[in-house]
Order: sequence, then structure tokens, then C-alpha cells
Amino acid sequence: WPVFSDDIDAILKLKRERNAVILAHNYQTPEIFHCVADIVGDSLALARKAMEVEADVIVLAGVHFMAETAKLLNPSKTVLIPDMRAGCSLADSITPQDIRLLRQRYPGVPVVTYVNTSAAVKAESDICCTSGNAKAVVESLGVPRVLMLPDEYLAQNIAKQTDVEIIAWKGHCEVHERFTPEDIREMRAAHPGVTVLAHPECPPEVVAEADFAGSTAAMSDYVGREKPASVVLVTECSMSDNVAVEHPDVEFIRPCNLCPHMKRITLGNIRSALERNEHAVTIDPTVAARARLAVERMLAV
Ligand code: 13P
Ligand code: SF4
Repeated sequence: WPVFSDDIDAILKLKRERNAVILAHNYQTPEIFHCVADIVGDSLALARKAMEVEADVIVLAGVHFMAETAKLLNPSKTVLIPDMRAGCSLADSITPQDIRLLRQRYPGVPVVTYVNTSAAVKAESDICCTSGNAKAVVESLGVPRVLMLPDEYLAQNIAKQTDVEIIAWKGHCEVHERFTPEDIREMRAAHPGVTVLAHPECPPEVVAEADFAGSTAAMSDYVGREKPASVVLVTECSMSDNVAVEHPDVEFIRPCNLCPHMKRITLGNIRSALERNEHAVTIDPTVAARARLAVERMLAV
């Protein structure tokens, strides 16, 4: 990685000087994922690991809701997000007021909120979930009906796996909603025998065309376990780049969509985050206390 080596050297030194760790989501670019990150994973793994961090500073190489979740779970640490604009179309699709109105419309129905939401939205929720544990969370409540917000497609995909009735919202991931069933059929025609793995934020018609659907960690584990001769990961582009490094014998077919929010994080702004202590995540203490409960209930499932 000669072109990146100045930033990589500087980041490794700054991590030691500041007693910092870098948590990176599976959608981060390979030079971040493989060269400077201390902990990598899906949203669920990053939340669990954030709770255990003993270092003084956590740099979250991911999007804003992930940094907020880390701060909720380890509030005494300084949590830095290198670019405050690293958002998420799902997090932007719902407000705390929306949840209050839904509770009036569906009295007594528990609210399960995807972690891809703001802390203020989590604070209005009963329990959180990720794509890795959504079914288990929904079924843990022991009720016939839940509200599952805000990802309509994740809710529809989980509804197919459980007897619990799921009421959905209209939020979508701008990356995964762009895949179509025709895309998958074309990939299969062009690459006979290819194994197709899809993220459950994809529309149900897309998931129906896939061989397996699961969180980013579940897709990565599938490749390691099943070792398909060729595979396509129907998700964000950096996923294949990162997983392919570990599996040189597997052919990765690369149609993918970029997440512009994940791509706001670069080696350059990770370096300046550590140099300038920017941008520290803060959460109103009253909101944080309620949001933390929803996340902790999820982690207890
Ligand atoms: P995972 O929890 O599967 O890593 O997904 C997070 C995400 O933002 C997917 O778009
Ligand atoms: Fe949000 Fe989709 Fe980007 Fe994930 S990939 S951070 S869900 S916009």
C-alpha cells in the first residue's frame, strides 16, 4: 500500500500515543479494514466489542449511528467519528415523533428498532435489533405482533421466517434497494454455478433469488465455511474486497453498489480525527439512558 503508507504509519503512531483503537465496519475500504483497524465486523459485533474497549479513545470507521451506539455502550470513552456527514438513509427515514405517533396508532405493540437509527429514535424504542439478530429479537418478546422499524425490506424478509406479525415502516437502504431480481438472474446467466449471498436490506424479491441472506458477518462466515468456487455478495462494494483477501481460492464476482456514507471515512480523516480529537460523539444524557436500555436489551437476547 505505498500510496497510503504515510497515513498508515501516522495512524499507527497516533493510536499508541492516544491509547486509541479503531473499530471498522465490513464496508470500510481495504486499506482501513486491513491496515489500521483493531476490530472489524458487522454492526452487532462492533456494538459488542465497543462495550469491551479499555483504551481511552475509540475511532469508529463506519457511519454515525455506529459511533453513537459505541458511545451509548461505553460512555466514559471518547468516541470519534472522522466525518460527521457519514450518515445512513435508514437512520434518516424515521424520527422520534414518528415512533410516538405509531405507538398511539398501535397501543401496546412493542417497538423493535434497527440499530441503523439515531440515539433519539432508539430512546423511543423497546428493543433494538441488527440484521444479525432480528429474528431472535422479534421472537424473544413472546408477543403475536411487533412494530419493526424503519427498514421495510428487513421487516418483510424477517416476516417470512417467523409467525410473529410484523408491522413495517417505509425506510430503505439506498445501497441495497437498488438491486433487482433481474440483476441476480443476469449474474447467474453470466456466471453459471455462482453462489449468490444477499444482505437482508435487499428487497424480498432479491433475497428470494439468492442462495443465502444474512448480515455482513454472516455472509463472510458463509464464504469461510462453504468455500464456494465463485460467489457474488449482493451488498456494498468493499465487502468483497475485504473478504476476498482471506479467501484467495474463491472467485469473487463483483457487481455491487457503493455506500456514499461509509466512503466518507478515509485514512486521511482517521488521521486528523486522532490528531485533532475530532469529531467527538455526544448524546444528551436523558436520551442516552433510554437508548442504552434498548441496545442492552438487544445484547441480552
Ligand atoms: P450489518 O449489521 O449486516 O453489518 O449491516 C450494516 C449496514 O449498514 C448494512 O447496510
Ligand atoms: Fe445505511 Fe445502507 Fe449505507 Fe448501511 S449501506 S450505512 S444501511 S445507507
